[in-house]
Amino acid sequence: MNIALLGFGVVGSGVYEWCRDREDLHVRRVLVRSEKPQIADIATHDFEDILHDDSIDIVVEVMGGLHPAYEYVTAALKAGKHVVTANKALIAAYYQELTELAKAQGKALLCTAAVGGGIPWLVNLERVKRLDSVQSFCGIMNGTTNFILDAMHTDGSDFSEVLAEAQKLGYAEADPSADIDGLDIQRKAVISANVAFDACLSEADVPVFGIRSILSCDIAAAESRSRICKMLAFGEKSASGAVSCYVEPCFVPSGELEAAVSTNRNVISFVTELTGKESFYGQGAGRYPTAYNAVADCADIIGGVKEFYTSLVRDVPVDNNAASHPYYVRFSGSDEFLSSIEAEKCGEGVVTMPVPVAKMHAWAAKAKEADPGVFIAGLI
Ligand code: HSE
Repeated sequence: MNIALLGFGVVGSGVYEWCRDREDLHVRRVLVRSEKPQIADIATHDFEDILHDDSIDIVVEVMGGLHPAYEYVTAALKAGKHVVTANKALIAAYYQELTELAKAQGKALLCTAAVGGGIPWLVNLERVKRLDSVQSFCGIMNGTTNFILDAMHTDGSDFSEVLAEAQKLGYAEADPSADIDGLDIQRKAVISANVAFDACLSEADVPVFGIRSILSCDIAAAESRSRICKMLAFGEKSASGAVSCYVEPCFVPSGELEAAVSTNRNVISFVTELTGKESFYGQGAGRYPTAYNAVADCADIIGGVKEFYTSLVRDVPVDNNAASHPYYVRFSGSDEFLSSIEAEKCGEGVVTMPVPVAKMHAWAAKAKEADPGVFIAGLI
């Protein structure tokens, strides 16, 4: 099959290299912003060259951002081309529209590289759903924040220095706020929840708290309780059919799988009704891991896949007060709500009694106005 790449950055050039020696996948065109001497013969600045080229079977969108990625992807599907993308922001924002368009066109829309970098997470969610029902998922879905937290725990690294290193290594987003504020994970959680539960959540349904304000005293507080601080995403279906889905730092007991995940690695697990917990571990960011999943999606299309991971998009209720647990909270100043839920002191902060997730996140969002340095972490 013939591929057109939209973008030739870290991931795009990885896909190009990966396909170079393959007999079954040929990169015929590459949409670029600036000149790229190594691909001068196939580069174009004009998307129309790709759209109107009937020899292109698959458009691989690795340019990122919402626009013009949205316009290009919808035009490609309408023109009868399969689409592979690593763009979680695009899929999370236009989930219903894009999955329904792909279905109507009978074309593949695959985004395995969008969640978990090189981990085959979404494809395995789809596989397990053929036989079993997914009850919940949980995991580390961001390489940059895991890299930062791991370095802060293992050698006391400074937050800003280790973030700069993650950027140099190609893990962080162009604007690393998306990583450290948890928005990148929020998008991955939206896509995972929608595939897992045949739902149609949007980013607004998923409360998120990031690690921008984490200090070494918070790392010390976690360690004082034999725990490791990790950024986690959660999704769970309750007995009533409602879904909870949220993203937050957590103090994870040091014996747990997630606590042992180092550097830019990710681990994501699902729990199903009959088979229980299964975990998927690997490199969650970087050129070759991410390119691997994009190329693997193309190979699946060669194998006959002509759809998204799920064909159902249901209006599932969201209830983030269904989940509740204690929190570590560091907040300067006094606060009536915090005093009412405080269970004990913990380093520079406190540990609370179990609090519903939506309630805690709503408090934290407001508390930021009084203390921009406020930090919360779930105790799971
Ligand atoms: N910035 C993302 C991360 C890239 O650090 O996980 C992979 O999605």
